Amino acid sequence: MGLIHLSKSQHCIGCDCDDSIPAMAGLRPHPDLPMVSQDPRDPAFIQNPYPFYRKLRALGPLVWWTEYDRAMATTQAAVSTVLRHPGMGREVPPDRRPQVTPPLEPFYAVERHSLLELEPPQHTRIRRIAMQGFGRASLARMAPEVSRISDALIDAFPSGPFDVLEAYARPLPALVVTRFFGLADDMAAQLQAWSNDMVAMYQARRNPEIEHAAGVAAAEFRDFLAEVISERRKKPGDDFLSEILSLESKGVGLSSDELISTVILLLNAGHEATVHSLGNAVARLADHPDRGLVLEPGQIEGTVEECLRFDPPLHMFSRYVYKPVDIEGVTFHAGDEIGCLLASASRDDAVWPDGDRFDPLRARRQHLAFGSGIHVCIGASLARLEMQIALPILFARCPGLKVTEPPQFADAYHFHGYERLVVEVRPANPSST
Ligand code: HEM
Repeated sequence: MGLIHLSKSQHCIGCDCDDSIPAMAGLRPHPDLPMVSQDPRDPAFIQNPYPFYRKLRALGPLVWWTEYDRAMATTQAAVSTVLRHPGMGREVPPDRRPQVTPPLEPFYAVERHSLLELEPPQHTRIRRIAMQGFGRASLARMAPEVSRISDALIDAFPSGPFDVLEAYARPLPALVVTRFFGLADDMAAQLQAWSNDMVAMYQARRNPEIEHAAGVAAAEFRDFLAEVISERRKKPGDDFLSEILSLESKGVGLSSDELISTVILLLNAGHEATVHSLGNAVARLADHPDRGLVLEPGQIEGTVEECLRFDPPLHMFSRYVYKPVDIEGVTFHAGDEIGCLLASASRDDAVWPDGDRFDPLRARRQHLAFGSGIHVCIGASLARLEMQIALPILFARCPGLKVTEPPQFADAYHFHGYERLVVEVRPANPSST
């Protein structure tokens, strides 16, 4: 028997938040699934959700999480199957789309062309074009930029204890993406402010002021990018926008609206996840006994993958079922929704023996921190590049880096990252760097 949905839910650009909990009450549990209960707002759970995930995996590949009123895939195999299944997707079924009021029109106009809100064939076309901007040449161009940004941020580290998220992990991805689009560094703060106002729409505290701010931000962001795009058409540069615009001469291209939505999505979806991936990795590596070894050039790729597997920044995404599907022997019907617990999948002992152990030297296998299937993260190669460059530079220049306060994860289950990460550094002798 399928699930019966009686209410609507909202979905986050970056992930699927706990915000939908109150709105989801009233769904009927799937009769074939074990039921589990855990308030995702419980502070102890937020600090360490992994024992709960272990319990879920022991119950089976699919469970019914009562607080979400939703089936959840728990294992690597089940999560992967759901994410890759052609009978499911992210696009909200028509009867569950939100009503658009005039102040929010600019916001939803941007969302209408967002890769994360679309399914084939529109998704395939836009994504194929956007992917051209993430080719090898673009990444090769960005590598020295990431090094320069990392060094400049470290040069500005204060003396005494400080929050390394604010001083390093947060500005770094913002500056990288700003340069990736060929924009001046001093735009990074403004882009971030627009992005924050838009992303606030997906959080529980959403109210008319937040909606107003999101509408204004979307309109200003759109107007700013329209101007930049028109300038780049006249005077191309060496950047993502110019790369995508150059495709127009080959008869493939995005409309201005599609390009604007894509750029806004890249900023909104990419920033926070990279900040938290960097922060989680710094905390993990700060007291690692083999830090020197695991940050070496031949090993850093494996280390970054292990950091992402062990403590991914995004823990849950969902899929709508569009037609009857069979997952792990359980039947779901059109309109059902299945959550994918990425961070549970990544601790699955069947794939990673002793999965709760952090081991950068372990054999590498495909984890799901970047998702899978047609919506797999388009910015994964850029995010990996940032981590592979920024972490070794940080620890090489600050070999005495120590976490000085027990870090607390921020109070949001869906974004698994620290509130603050207070460290102290004893800079190396300049001649040794
Ligand atoms: C370590 C950092 C990052 C992590 C862990 C991450 C994770 C993810 C995940 C799990 C998805 C799939 C969502 C789903 O299946 O429903 C996704 C999609 C996406 N990510 Fe990332 N991401 C990161 C960085 C970035 C960056 C740097 C960018 C852009 C510059 C970016 C842009 C996107 C976009 C545009 C999508 C949607 C792709 C589509 O729908 O086709 N991400 N990301």
